[in-house]
Amino acid sequence: MTSTLAPFPAARPRRLRSSAAIRNLTRETELSVNDLIWPVFVRDGEGLEEPVPSMPGVLRRSVDRVVQAATEAYALGIPAICLFPYTDPSLKTEDCAEAWNPDNLCNRAIRGIKAAVPDLAIMTDVALDPYNINGHDGFVIDGEIRNDETVDALVKMTLAQAEAGADIIGPSDMMDGRVGAMRSALEGRGFHNVKILSYSAKYASGFYGPFRDAVGASGALKGDKKTYQMDPGNSDEALRMIARDLREGADMVMVKPGLAYLDICHQVKREYRVPTFAYQVSGEYAMIQAAAQNGWINGEQVMLESLMAFRRAGCDGVLTYFAPQVARLLNG
Ligand code: PBG
Repeated sequence: MTSTLAPFPAARPRRLRSSAAIRNLTRETELSVNDLIWPVFVRDGEGLEEPVPSMPGVLRRSVDRVVQAATEAYALGIPAICLFPYTDPSLKTEDCAEAWNPDNLCNRAIRGIKAAVPDLAIMTDVALDPYNINGHDGFVIDGEIRNDETVDALVKMTLAQAEAGADIIGPSDMMDGRVGAMRSALEGRGFHNVKILSYSAKYASGFYGPFRDAVGASGALKGDKKTYQMDPGNSDEALRMIARDLREGADMVMVKPGLAYLDICHQVKREYRVPTFAYQVSGEYAMIQAAAQNGWINGEQVMLESLMAFRRAGCDGVLTYFAPQVARLLNG
């Protein structure tokens, strides 16, 4: 399987590194604009762009500005955008009803983007945390995260998003049975072409900190997410979760976070040969940006290198806050 080298000096591996032309010619993996999904944060209002302090360079945008950003992303060749709402705290409740409101922030943004750039794929996040008064991805009843009641709510949320025009549904909640329930609801309502990109192997991670600031869930979250998100020590379990979601009707799968879980990405791609994505999450982005701002690393180089690592590990694409910046670089 592995090729062997002739003994030195017949083989001088440096020959293949000796010029840019030869390096370009022999590179095994490429990073392309086609590999990018851009996560964006949506807020209320009009004409508003507000920075997220823990994610330098990332903005929360009002719907009109998200539409504008989506138009720019499409022009850069980015195939897909993923929407995350910053929900007004007054709309967060215990029953999370705002999650399936056809006119909630996310669904308004979907309609706006679809009207302006119909060919840009829109992905959504399905979980209750932006709408939940206690910051959890599922219903909390008597101090417990309740699985089956949550799945019913996630199905309503999925249908509202599909109705609004979402192309890719991204369940990020880690409840059991949700992919199957979503798939049969989508089929039942005639949404045969709506895709599910399941956050199948999602770990209970410290790397999500800045994201929870961005969507306003940090203060709200009571406790942790360890009874539904995975333990960072597990990899066999990740493979079981991927297999399960594929059997329930997921079209694509995701590993999250990314860089600290490249071994999982690699195993998933090798084992299942399905479209595999990684999420370069907020904490990964923040670490690169913070070090770059301090002059400790070359931010552009590390950004490209980290994204290349996902491709090399076997990922078909990456959700990354760097998407427009990378696209501009790659487009020259
Ligand atoms: C919530 C959700 C989270 C992220 C995506 N969807 C946070 C969490 O699970 O607490 C994290 C993304 C990131 O950190 O960039 N369902």
